[in-house]
Amino acid sequence: MATDAMRIAAPLGTHDVLPGEWALWRELEQAARTEFERFGYQEVRTPVFEDTRLFVRGTGETTDIVQKEMYTFGEGDDSITLRPEGTPPIVRSCLEHELFKAKKFQKLYYIGPMFRRERPQAGRLRQFHQMGIEALGGYDPLLDAETIVLAGRVFDRVGLAGYQVKLNSVGCPKCRPGYRAILREKLTPSREKLCESCQARFDRNVFRILDCKRDQCKAICADLPPPQQHACEECAKHFAAVLEALKRIELPFSVEPKLVRGLDYYTKTVYEITHSSLGARDAVCGGGRYDNMVEEFGGPPMGAVGFAIGMEATLLAIRNIRGEAAHAIASPTDVYVICIGNESRGYGFGVLDALRKKGVATDGDYEARSPKAQMRTANKLGVRFAVVVGSDEMTQGVVTVKTMSTGEEAKLPLPEGVEFIVNKLKSAGS
Ligand code: HAM
Repeated sequence: MATDAMRIAAPLGTHDVLPGEWALWRELEQAARTEFERFGYQEVRTPVFEDTRLFVRGTGETTDIVQKEMYTFGEGDDSITLRPEGTPPIVRSCLEHELFKAKKFQKLYYIGPMFRRERPQAGRLRQFHQMGIEALGGYDPLLDAETIVLAGRVFDRVGLAGYQVKLNSVGCPKCRPGYRAILREKLTPSREKLCESCQARFDRNVFRILDCKRDQCKAICADLPPPQQHACEECAKHFAAVLEALKRIELPFSVEPKLVRGLDYYTKTVYEITHSSLGARDAVCGGGRYDNMVEEFGGPPMGAVGFAIGMEATLLAIRNIRGEAAHAIASPTDVYVICIGNESRGYGFGVLDALRKKGVATDGDYEARSPKAQMRTANKLGVRFAVVVGSDEMTQGVVTVKTMSTGEEAKLPLPEGVEFIVNKLKSAGS
């Protein structure tokens, strides 16, 4: 016996997805795949770690993510970082594999884990999952609108009623410097009264102060001019066209003049989709346009826009809406093989195999339990058929098939028994 047994828990800010939760995870993932592909997006998988410089340059040196939330290993040119987000890796991948040579306009999607060393609290995980899309190659405001519509379609498909679309425009390299100077000037008298993070943001990224959730900062920012007031003509026109497109298709949204988002690369449109059942950290999706990243990574000048849906946040919102029903999952097992007596277990193993080879979801007992206990398991699993094998069945090469819903039993040669089950399941549509 082990004398120094030790229980080790999952790391802080991570979680296990247990068997009872998978039905919902799959449903969400499937909904996203279906809608993403309908809108013309193709899947890409990039590594979960990348050259650290990709995020320092792409996500941005002044962001909270790069400043304090990255899991980084190694030094200098060997330094790698667990990806905190999917956007810079997609751009890198497109350029590295010269995807733009074959097709100038790329619509790509990704699903997978992301890593941020956030302060653990409700809704913030250190490993979480995103389903994201990136449309690379277009400056058209209709494309911004299309991405918002697409995110909404995913939420509609999983029945997430009550989400809210909030958007804003954060300007471009032409109008941002002027606005930055105005914000600094207006904030200087109250700089000392800002929260600690915002005091640091004053020099690093003054725009972020605008959407700080702390009361003292909110009060200070109440009278500041929103970015739109200082937008250049091009940005103003672009934003008006996005709003116009959303109105045309009657997609409900609100303009949040102080929404700025926490990533450096955004230009023009930014948006968040929130769900009120989630409390303080209520975003189920965040996205926006980033027209400079491709060029900054050595590619041609190219507009781009995308979003990422947070899977854990979305699943929580779905559970809040559906209640307990969200957890109910049908058993995936259709047949349970019951062996009477130890000597028939080998024969039973062959029966299991014959059924599985025909594609039937089958399980059996591996604890040499009594037939009664095995039948209890069959009932618990809610299987459609129990296949009973004892020494008689074994010597005659037959099986006894019990239809659980009626209690009817039929003794059939093994191949016929398998065929019988396959046909019944087929006609029932499973
Ligand atoms: P983001 O707003 O940082 O954007 O993340 C998108 C969503 O991921 C959030 O709305 C939230 O649901 C989820 N999320 C983020 N951090 C955490 C966390 N620590 N724990 C749990 N969930 C989290 C991006 O990542 C951009 N790459 C989106 C984008 C794509 N913009 C353009 N293209």
